[in-house]
Amino acid sequence: MSVWAVLAAAGSGERLGADRPKAFVRLGEQPLLAESLARLDASDWVDAIVVAAPPGWEEPAILLAEELGCGKVSACVTGGATRADSVRLGVAEVPADAAVVLVHDAARPLLDDAVVERVVTALGEGWDGAVPTLPIPDTVKRVDGEQVLETLRRDELRVVQTPQAFVADILRKALSGSDWTDCSAAVEAAGGRVRIVDGDPRLAKVTDAADLDRVAALL
Ligand code: C5P
Repeated sequence: MSVWAVLAAAGSGERLGADRPKAFVRLGEQPLLAESLARLDASDWVDAIVVAAPPGWEEPAILLAEELGCGKVSACVTGGATRADSVRLGVAEVPADAAVVLVHDAARPLLDDAVVERVVTALGEGWDGAVPTLPIPDTVKRVDGEQVLETLRRDELRVVQTPQAFVADILRKALSGSDWTDCSAAVEAAGGRVRIVDGDPRLAKVTDAADLDRVAALL
């Protein structure tokens, strides 16, 4: 069973206020991208990697992979205008005989191999996809403008992270649909059965400068 990882790293990261795309902002000694790239490359669950790089940053991404000795990087594509476009462009590089596609955000650098194992092995149990999730500590309400419409049942809600694993053929078909914020939503909309597995609080997404400091402290 071959597992191909698509690493979405093409975001501009405007909310970080840096002079470069988020994937190339420093995290410790390296660009942010280095952490997830090296961890995917080191994973026994991953056979090959496609990186979706920000426009104009394809070469630095390839050089970084070479510097890190990431021999599993098979292609580096130019990302699209949205995350969904970048994932589509990355998945287009995955060969037809790949069994599983693992989609991960470079903005979640602290990738533990145990999470990769959990999502990939769930597919062996017959699920179409598997996503890491965390319970929600706060009460969540649905609102319309300033008015509360409803209080949602917290035990029915989860925060969703990446990496997300999918049966390759099912993901390919689902991605032809409209825009979505995570790949699981596309697979769900196409009728796919997606399982939740335990996520990892360390997989928090880097969005602003404070997140970067928090994640750097956990390195
Ligand atoms: O912007 P946000 O943090 O939600 O992006 C999540 C992930 O998707 C990041 O790793 C980012 O690099 C990636 N992305 C992308 N192409 C885009 C926008 C975001 O690959 N056009």
